[in-house]
Amino acid sequence: MSNGATRTRAQDAARTGADRGAPVVEIRGLSKRFDGASRRVLDDVTLSVWPGELVVLLGPNGCGKSTMLRCAVRLLDPTSGSVTVAGSDLAALSGNELRDRRRQVATIFQHGHLVARRSALANVACGGLGRSRGLRVAAGHLPAAELRHGMECLARVRMTHVAARRADSLSGGEAQRVAIARALSQRPQTLMADEPVASLDPEAAESVMELLRDLATRDNLGVLCVLHQPELALRFADRIAGLRAGRIAFDLPANVVGAEAVRALYQDER
Ligand SMILES: Nc1ncnc2c1ncn2[C@@H]1O[C@H](COP(=O)(O)OP(=O)(O)O)[C@@H](O)[C@H]1O
Ligand SMILES: [Mg+2]
Repeated sequence: MSNGATRTRAQDAARTGADRGAPVVEIRGLSKRFDGASRRVLDDVTLSVWPGELVVLLGPNGCGKSTMLRCAVRLLDPTSGSVTVAGSDLAALSGNELRDRRRQVATIFQHGHLVARRSALANVACGGLGRSRGLRVAAGHLPAAELRHGMECLARVRMTHVAARRADSLSGGEAQRVAIARALSQRPQTLMADEPVASLDPEAAESVMELLRDLATRDNLGVLCVLHQPELALRFADRIAGLRAGRIAFDLPANVVGAEAVRALYQDER
């Protein structure tokens, strides 16, 4: 049994108590219908993520996983329902407050989307400045404090040895770890990852999942991660949510999700 699975079981046991506190992200009754579409892509989805837990979202292609993550960080406006981040409803916020609350949720995608010609460290340090300021200083020198913080974030993902390398010289696995360091540089409480290991070889995929597991366990981050590999979900997640045709089919501790429930998730769509 892997360390990941051992830690997961231990965490599940610890988390059945009443000491979980408030969720870092609470998605309630979320529905989404795109303009002109006849049906809802998401239909009354409710899901919460607590600090220190890794929740994996599984589901077949097109069932609404990415739409759910985009609505959760308000890259898309939900048709109905609410998303609460650290106790505040995002829809009720605007301006600086909305920006600050959004920064508490960092997103990671399938491809790291690093700036190819810049160093790994510059990519990470820009993340700490926030998008608009990061772009403004892109051509100039980064503040020393941001570079220091950037190195700390690279150290957290064990990537200081690539700090000076251009982003486009990194392997897929290295680039994804640097992208995670960049996400950490905005000091989030929550990480949302949309298929972060989909384009990695099995060894790199495993190492990225171990890192996400560790960020939940040791840094107490809430992590919501879309995966396509049920076996990785069963090994690394505290909780697995199954999404089928825009609805939550199950939301259960990983150690009670049976292989049958996972299979049904994919079979029912055919
Ligand atoms: N911007 C959009 N406009 C219209 N339909 C969309 C848009 N984005 C996604 N969809 C549709 O919503 C459904 C769910 O997509 P998505 O959330 O990307 O699924 P998943 O990530 O689970 O593969 C798909 O049928 C897709 O075609
Ligand atoms: Mg998707």
